[in-house]
Amino acid sequence: MVMVWRIFNYIKHLFYTRHRHGHGIHSPYLFEFVNAVLFNSLRTEVPEAILKEHRKLRTESAFVRRSSVSMKYGGLLYRISLWFRPEMIVELGAGLGISAMYLSFGQTSTPLHTIEGDRERAAMAEQFLSGSCPGPVFVHRGNMDEKLKDILAILPPRFLAFVDGNHHYEPTLNYVRKLMLRAGDEALIVMDDIYWSKGMQRAWKEIVSWPEVAISIDLFHMGILLLKKDFPKTKIKIKF
Ligand SMILES: C[S@@+](CC[C@H](N)C(=O)[O-])C[C@H]1O[C@@H](n2cnc3c(N)ncnc32)[C@H](O)[C@@H]1O
Repeated sequence: MVMVWRIFNYIKHLFYTRHRHGHGIHSPYLFEFVNAVLFNSLRTEVPEAILKEHRKLRTESAFVRRSSVSMKYGGLLYRISLWFRPEMIVELGAGLGISAMYLSFGQTSTPLHTIEGDRERAAMAEQFLSGSCPGPVFVHRGNMDEKLKDILAILPPRFLAFVDGNHHYEPTLNYVRKLMLRAGDEALIVMDDIYWSKGMQRAWKEIVSWPEVAISIDLFHMGILLLKKDFPKTKIKIKF
Protein backbone atom coordinates (compact mmCIF):
# COMPACT_ATOMS: atom_id res chain seq x y z
CA MET A 1 0.00 0.00 0.00
CA VAL A 2 2.82 2.37 0.94
CA MET A 3 4.47 1.53 -2.39
CA VAL A 4 1.33 2.50 -4.34
CA TRP A 5 1.15 5.77 -2.40
CA ARG A 6 4.82 6.51 -3.21
CA ILE A 7 4.35 5.76 -6.93
CA PHE A 8 1.28 7.99 -7.01
CA ASN A 9 3.26 10.78 -5.36
CA TYR A 10 6.15 10.30 -7.77
CA ILE A 11 3.84 10.65 -10.79
CA LYS A 12 2.38 13.77 -9.21
CA HIS A 13 5.91 15.07 -8.64
CA LEU A 14 6.84 14.54 -12.31
CA PHE A 15 3.70 16.38 -13.36
CA TYR A 16 4.56 19.47 -11.33
CA THR A 17 8.30 19.65 -11.94
CA ARG A 18 9.82 22.55 -13.85
CA HIS A 19 13.17 24.26 -14.29
CA ARG A 20 15.25 21.46 -15.76
CA HIS A 21 18.80 22.84 -15.99
CA GLY A 22 17.62 26.08 -14.49
CA HIS A 23 15.22 27.18 -17.24
CA GLY A 24 12.85 29.87 -16.01
CA ILE A 25 14.84 30.63 -12.87
CA HIS A 26 15.65 34.34 -12.67
CA SER A 27 17.80 34.58 -9.56
CA PRO A 28 21.50 34.12 -10.49
CA TYR A 29 22.15 32.51 -7.09
CA LEU A 30 19.45 29.89 -7.57
CA PHE A 31 20.27 29.42 -11.25
CA GLU A 32 23.85 28.64 -10.31
CA PHE A 33 22.76 26.15 -7.69
CA VAL A 34 20.34 24.35 -10.01
CA ASN A 35 22.58 24.40 -13.07
CA ALA A 36 26.05 23.88 -11.63
CA VAL A 37 25.35 21.95 -8.43
CA LEU A 38 22.22 19.93 -9.16
CA PHE A 39 22.76 19.28 -12.85
CA ASN A 40 26.53 19.44 -12.69
CA SER A 41 27.01 21.71 -15.71
CA LEU A 42 30.67 22.13 -14.71
CA ARG A 43 31.16 18.37 -15.00
CA THR A 44 32.68 18.09 -11.55
CA GLU A 45 33.81 14.52 -11.12
CA VAL A 46 33.44 12.62 -7.88
CA PRO A 47 36.93 11.47 -6.80
CA GLU A 48 37.60 7.89 -7.86
CA ALA A 49 38.64 7.05 -4.28
CA ILE A 50 35.02 7.62 -3.13
CA LEU A 51 33.47 5.57 -5.89
CA LYS A 52 35.88 2.71 -5.25
CA GLU A 53 35.02 2.61 -1.53
CA HIS A 54 31.30 2.88 -2.27
CA ARG A 55 31.39 0.03 -4.82
CA LYS A 56 33.32 -2.14 -2.38
CA LEU A 57 30.89 -1.58 0.51
CA ARG A 58 27.89 -2.10 -1.78
CA THR A 59 29.20 -5.51 -2.71
CA GLU A 60 29.83 -6.45 0.91
CA SER A 61 26.79 -4.99 2.67
CA ALA A 62 23.06 -5.45 2.08
CA PHE A 63 22.47 -2.48 4.41
CA VAL A 64 24.46 -0.19 2.09
CA ARG A 65 22.59 -1.46 -0.97
CA ARG A 66 19.25 -0.91 0.77
CA SER A 67 19.69 2.14 2.97
CA SER A 68 22.65 4.25 1.86
CA VAL A 69 22.58 7.03 -0.68
CA SER A 70 23.03 5.96 -4.28
CA MET A 71 26.06 7.10 -6.28
CA LYS A 72 23.87 9.69 -8.01
CA TYR A 73 22.68 11.28 -4.76
CA GLY A 74 26.09 10.81 -3.15
CA GLY A 75 27.56 12.79 -6.04
CA LEU A 76 25.02 15.51 -5.36
CA LEU A 77 25.99 15.64 -1.67
CA TYR A 78 29.63 15.90 -2.71
CA ARG A 79 28.90 18.85 -5.05
CA ILE A 80 26.72 20.58 -2.46
CA SER A 81 29.52 20.36 0.08
CA LEU A 82 32.07 21.57 -2.48
CA TRP A 83 29.91 24.52 -3.58
CA PHE A 84 28.52 25.63 -0.22
CA ARG A 85 31.81 25.61 1.72
CA PRO A 86 30.28 25.07 5.15
CA GLU A 87 32.22 25.69 8.35
CA MET A 88 30.91 22.40 9.69
CA ILE A 89 29.00 19.42 8.32
CA VAL A 90 26.51 17.58 10.48
CA GLU A 91 24.78 14.35 9.61
CA LEU A 92 21.92 12.62 11.40
CA GLY A 93 22.11 8.92 10.58
CA ALA A 94 25.58 7.70 9.59
CA GLY A 95 24.69 4.13 8.65
CA LEU A 96 28.04 2.69 7.60
CA GLY A 97 29.39 6.11 6.59
CA ILE A 98 28.74 6.27 2.84
CA SER A 99 26.96 9.64 2.67
CA ALA A 100 29.40 11.10 5.23
CA MET A 101 32.28 10.13 2.94
CA TYR A 102 30.76 12.07 0.00
CA LEU A 103 30.09 15.10 2.20
CA SER A 104 33.52 15.08 3.80
CA PHE A 105 35.42 14.78 0.52
CA GLY A 106 33.63 17.93 -0.67
CA GLN A 107 35.45 19.97 2.03
CA THR A 108 38.41 18.08 3.32
CA SER A 109 39.41 20.62 5.95
CA THR A 110 35.89 21.04 7.37
CA PRO A 111 34.96 18.95 10.42
CA LEU A 112 32.10 16.52 9.91
CA HIS A 113 30.03 15.25 12.85
CA THR A 114 27.71 12.33 12.28
CA ILE A 115 25.37 10.46 14.65
CA GLU A 116 24.56 6.76 14.59
CA GLY A 117 22.38 4.93 17.12
CA ASP A 118 23.11 1.36 16.10
CA ARG A 119 26.26 0.30 17.97
CA GLU A 120 27.59 -2.05 15.36
CA ARG A 121 26.99 0.37 12.47
CA ALA A 122 28.52 3.25 14.43
CA ALA A 123 31.69 1.24 15.03
CA MET A 124 31.86 0.25 11.36
CA ALA A 125 31.25 3.83 10.23
CA GLU A 126 34.01 5.08 12.50
CA GLN A 127 36.49 2.57 11.14
CA PHE A 128 35.40 3.12 7.54
CA LEU A 129 35.50 6.93 7.71
CA SER A 130 38.82 7.13 9.52
CA GLY A 131 40.31 4.92 6.81
CA SER A 132 38.70 6.57 3.79
CA CYS A 133 38.31 10.32 4.50
CA PRO A 134 41.17 12.79 4.45
CA GLY A 135 39.23 15.30 6.59
CA PRO A 136 38.34 15.37 10.31
CA VAL A 137 35.32 13.11 10.92
CA PHE A 138 33.67 12.42 14.28
CA VAL A 139 31.12 9.63 14.78
CA HIS A 140 28.83 10.25 17.78
CA ARG A 141 27.41 6.99 19.03
CA GLY A 142 23.91 7.10 20.49
CA ASN A 143 20.39 8.39 19.98
CA MET A 144 20.22 11.58 17.92
CA ASP A 145 17.62 12.98 20.34
CA GLU A 146 20.49 13.19 22.84
CA LYS A 147 23.60 13.49 20.69
CA LEU A 148 22.38 16.37 18.55
CA LYS A 149 22.64 18.63 21.63
CA ASP A 150 26.41 18.12 21.81
CA ILE A 151 26.82 19.04 18.15
CA LEU A 152 24.48 22.06 18.35
CA ALA A 153 26.65 23.42 21.14
CA ILE A 154 29.62 23.72 18.75
CA LEU A 155 27.75 24.29 15.46
CA PRO A 156 28.88 27.44 13.61
CA PRO A 157 26.25 29.56 11.78
CA ARG A 158 27.30 28.46 8.29
CA PHE A 159 26.68 24.74 8.36
CA LEU A 160 25.58 21.99 6.03
CA ALA A 161 23.30 19.35 7.56
CA PHE A 162 22.11 16.05 6.14
CA VAL A 163 19.08 14.62 7.95
CA ASP A 164 18.87 10.90 7.16
CA GLY A 165 17.63 8.99 10.19
CA ASN A 166 14.55 8.54 12.37
CA HIS A 167 12.23 9.30 9.46
CA HIS A 168 9.10 10.24 11.39
CA TYR A 169 7.06 13.41 11.54
CA GLU A 170 7.72 14.61 15.10
CA PRO A 171 11.48 13.89 15.38
CA THR A 172 12.16 15.26 11.89
CA LEU A 173 10.44 18.55 12.74
CA ASN A 174 12.37 18.72 16.00
CA TYR A 175 15.78 18.10 14.46
CA VAL A 176 15.29 20.57 11.62
CA ARG A 177 13.87 23.21 13.97
CA LYS A 178 16.86 22.87 16.32
CA LEU A 179 19.34 23.08 13.45
CA MET A 180 17.60 26.15 12.04
CA LEU A 181 17.86 27.98 15.33
CA ARG A 182 21.65 27.83 14.96
CA ALA A 183 21.73 29.15 11.38
CA GLY A 184 23.32 32.49 10.56
CA ASP A 185 22.89 34.42 7.31
CA GLU A 186 23.24 31.29 5.26
CA ALA A 187 22.96 27.58 6.06
CA LEU A 188 21.88 24.54 4.10
CA ILE A 189 19.90 21.49 5.20
CA VAL A 190 19.33 18.41 3.05
CA MET A 191 16.55 16.03 4.06
CA ASP A 192 16.47 12.51 2.70
CA ASP A 193 13.34 10.47 1.92
CA ILE A 194 10.84 13.31 2.07
CA TYR A 195 8.12 11.08 0.53
CA TRP A 196 9.10 7.95 2.42
CA SER A 197 5.87 8.06 4.45
CA LYS A 198 2.88 10.30 5.02
CA GLY A 199 4.58 11.57 8.18
CA MET A 200 7.71 12.58 6.29
CA GLN A 201 5.67 14.26 3.57
CA ARG A 202 3.78 16.19 6.24
CA ALA A 203 7.04 17.18 7.93
CA TRP A 204 8.52 18.40 4.62
CA LYS A 205 5.39 20.43 3.76
CA GLU A 206 5.38 22.04 7.16
CA ILE A 207 9.11 22.80 7.21
CA VAL A 208 9.12 24.48 3.78
CA SER A 209 6.43 26.86 5.03
CA TRP A 210 8.61 28.14 7.90
CA PRO A 211 9.83 31.71 7.39
CA GLU A 212 13.50 30.74 7.89
CA VAL A 213 13.39 28.63 4.72
CA ALA A 214 14.17 30.94 1.83
CA ILE A 215 14.50 28.31 -0.89
CA SER A 216 13.13 24.79 -0.89
CA ILE A 217 13.93 22.35 -3.66
CA ASP A 218 11.87 19.18 -3.84
CA LEU A 219 13.73 16.43 -5.73
CA PHE A 220 11.27 13.76 -4.50
CA HIS A 221 13.96 11.49 -3.00
CA MET A 222 15.62 14.41 -1.26
CA GLY A 223 14.62 17.90 -0.22
CA ILE A 224 17.02 20.83 -0.05
CA LEU A 225 16.46 23.79 2.25
CA LEU A 226 18.53 26.91 1.71
CA LEU A 227 18.31 29.24 4.65
CA LYS A 228 19.39 32.55 3.25
CA LYS A 229 18.59 35.84 4.94
CA ASP A 230 16.63 38.34 2.84
CA PHE A 231 16.14 35.98 -0.10
CA PRO A 232 12.51 35.93 -1.32
CA LYS A 233 10.68 32.73 -0.48
CA THR A 234 10.93 30.32 -3.39
CA LYS A 235 9.60 26.75 -3.61
CA ILE A 236 10.54 24.58 -6.55
CA LYS A 237 10.13 20.97 -7.60
CA ILE A 238 12.69 19.43 -9.89
CA LYS A 239 12.97 16.11 -11.69
CA PHE A 240 16.49 15.09 -10.79
C1 LIG B 1 19.11 5.59 6.10
S1 LIG B 1 20.30 5.11 7.27
C2 LIG B 1 21.61 6.25 7.00
C3 LIG B 1 22.35 6.02 5.73
C4 LIG B 1 23.52 6.94 5.51
N1 LIG B 1 23.17 8.33 5.72
C5 LIG B 1 24.07 6.76 4.11
O1 LIG B 1 23.45 7.26 3.17
O2 LIG B 1 25.09 6.10 3.97
C6 LIG B 1 19.61 5.78 8.75
C7 LIG B 1 20.45 5.48 10.00
O3 LIG B 1 19.92 6.25 11.05
C8 LIG B 1 20.04 5.53 12.25
N2 LIG B 1 19.02 6.02 13.20
C9 LIG B 1 17.67 5.97 13.07
N3 LIG B 1 17.07 6.55 14.13
C10 LIG B 1 18.07 6.99 14.96
C11 LIG B 1 18.10 7.66 16.20
N4 LIG B 1 16.97 8.06 16.83
N5 LIG B 1 19.31 7.96 16.74
C12 LIG B 1 20.46 7.59 16.12
N6 LIG B 1 20.49 6.93 14.94
C13 LIG B 1 19.32 6.64 14.36
C14 LIG B 1 19.79 4.07 11.84
O4 LIG B 1 20.41 3.19 12.75
C15 LIG B 1 20.40 4.02 10.43
O5 LIG B 1 21.69 3.51 10.44
